[in-house]
Amino acid sequence: MENNRGGWGSNIGFLMAAIGSAVGLGNIWGFPYKMGRSGGFTFLIIYLLLAVFVGFVIMIGELALGRRTGTGPIGAYHAVSSRFKWIGWLAVFSPFIIMSFYSVLGGYCIEYMSLNLSNLAFRAAPISGEDLFSSMLTNPWGSVVFTVLFLVICYLINRGGISGGIEKFNTVGMPALFFMLVIIIVKSLSMEGAIEGLKFMFVPGYAVAGGFIETAPSIGTVLATAGGQMFFSLSLAMGAMITYGSYLGKQENLVKNSAIIVIADTIVATMAGIAVIPAAVAHGIQQGIPVGEIALGGPSLLFVTLQNVFNSMGDIGALFGTLFYLLVLIAAISSAISLVEVVATFFIDHAAQKGRTANRGRVVLYVCLAILVEAALVAFDGLGSNGVWVPGQSLGIAGWNDCWLDFMDMLSEGLAMPLGALLMGIMVGWEIGPDSTLDEVHSGCGRGIDGFFRISIKFLVPLGMVLVLSGQISEFFGADAATIGYGLGIGICAVGLIAALTSPKRRELKK
Ligand code: PFF
Repeated sequence: MENNRGGWGSNIGFLMAAIGSAVGLGNIWGFPYKMGRSGGFTFLIIYLLLAVFVGFVIMIGELALGRRTGTGPIGAYHAVSSRFKWIGWLAVFSPFIIMSFYSVLGGYCIEYMSLNLSNLAFRAAPISGEDLFSSMLTNPWGSVVFTVLFLVICYLINRGGISGGIEKFNTVGMPALFFMLVIIIVKSLSMEGAIEGLKFMFVPGYAVAGGFIETAPSIGTVLATAGGQMFFSLSLAMGAMITYGSYLGKQENLVKNSAIIVIADTIVATMAGIAVIPAAVAHGIQQGIPVGEIALGGPSLLFVTLQNVFNSMGDIGALFGTLFYLLVLIAAISSAISLVEVVATFFIDHAAQKGRTANRGRVVLYVCLAILVEAALVAFDGLGSNGVWVPGQSLGIAGWNDCWLDFMDMLSEGLAMPLGALLMGIMVGWEIGPDSTLDEVHSGCGRGIDGFFRISIKFLVPLGMVLVLSGQISEFFGADAATIGYGLGIGICAVGLIAALTSPKRRELKK
């Protein structure tokens, strides 16, 4: 490929890597819990509709944009747009920020995996999930050491390059993850009381009826939750798919590939739910804990509830614990390396533009070191356990209040991502026009989805993204901020549309 950037060894290798990027912590602790809270099966339907009409379309758009321009997001947006060039920066900023907490959480997984492994080897008496988690959070240097370990793993993989590092890791890692997931599902479903967890996940309204939550969230919240989750889970609007697409051969079928990635990610998210939620609920019921008090999402699900589940299984628990945290670790690594690659590709492309050949190893090393600096802050904060100052506390902003992890998450996943996706949709739909993307799509497949793509990218994507962005802005400003949220969301969309319709690029292309 151009500039000796390298490329995927095979289409299946690319698919494994893209699925690896999509399957991550978001699938394991985000999807099942949000699904349960937000109406079970109803949430799944809304999620699927959004995935098909918005996620799938943006996935095609991003892969096409990357492949057509042969560069990462900054170069790609610069090459095709005159009004939205700067979105590329947003798409490099977000992955960098996400890595600040992703690498800390990856470090926690290494810590838990090692602990379970040593329990297995030495038959040590297990420590309760609560004690383990709080002693880990309040030991900042310990967390930093494990974060470094996680980043060293990412460094070693990314240094190997696209086919020699990322593709190789995922080609082994993804099937292994799938296999381990099946084993955990079998164990989870065999626990007494598991059915309650399944009902929480799948039966509409059961979260309230079964006493898991007090009141059901509003439809606006469900839409924003499902949309936000779908974007994060599919690794969209963060440069990852543009970057991976830029290494893809012209003969590959972008539509088929996008469909496979979306379907695989959704299947794994549902499977992850079936693996963890029934076990967590069954264990809680056995212990006499009211279901409303069992942590079923976020870090507490992974590092408190599930560790207690493994502890309660006797000797075999350490084996399942080791297997489970290894599975989560693989999911975290496969996503993290795509985030690191977005930033690394930017520097590699930048050097190529200047006529130089960047040393990949050195670039990846500097990127990982820069990530370590911000990650150390998140590690030191220990989810707010160590009294580190958080910006929202002084500014009184709800979304930034709790801890550095939430702050970083709100910046990237909460705001930059839906903003980037909305503007990207407007750029493709209204500035450069869907046909320029479709031209790229046609190299490698037929014209079967042209009509669907045109309508979705012009109307459904902006509409869906305004809803998601507005919901996120409302959450950012706290309760009762829906008017501000929707006002700002619609305002940003309107400004974006005006910018697109009056763009010199649009006029130039129309000639
Ligand atoms: N998709 C990953 C998850 O579900 O955890 C997170 C992620 C990876 C988001 C890569 C964005 C990205 F570019």
